[in-house]
Amino acid sequence: MKVTVSRKAHFNAAHRLYRKDWSFEKNDATFGKCNNPNFHGHNYDLIVSVTGEIDKETGYVIDMKVLKDIIKSEVEDALDHKNLNVEVPEFTTLNPTAENIAVVIYNKIKPKLSADLKLEITLYETPRNFVTYAGD
Ligand code: NI
Repeated sequence: MKVTVSRKAHFNAAHRLYRKDWSFEKNDATFGKCNNPNFHGHNYDLIVSVTGEIDKETGYVIDMKVLKDIIKSEVEDALDHKNLNVEVPEFTTLNPTAENIAVVIYNKIKPKLSADLKLEITLYETPRNFVTYAGD
């Protein structure tokens, strides 16, 4: 019997979507306002979901305190109030789209969990636009 537990988190960050190897015109046509050279911010909402067996002794899939601490160290401390392009090494050469941010978050959290737990990341860049990554 597998059960999924989820925790919500939040961070604010700035980014610019562009490719250094493209002209400003091509970046503008592809990324529009998100190509603003002076960056812009988002209020990101995050849902971290962990699926696994209920531990017979504790009744937990994962201790939510443990999950909370992992999210704090791997996501909030790393991304909150940061300029993703400038201050976060993972995005030095990777465009900080919601898709890529979700993959980066997954790759940071996954090694901190026991191997038998499945992880899914849902990242809201706006209340209406969100992406999901589960490691496939
Ligand atoms: Ni944006």
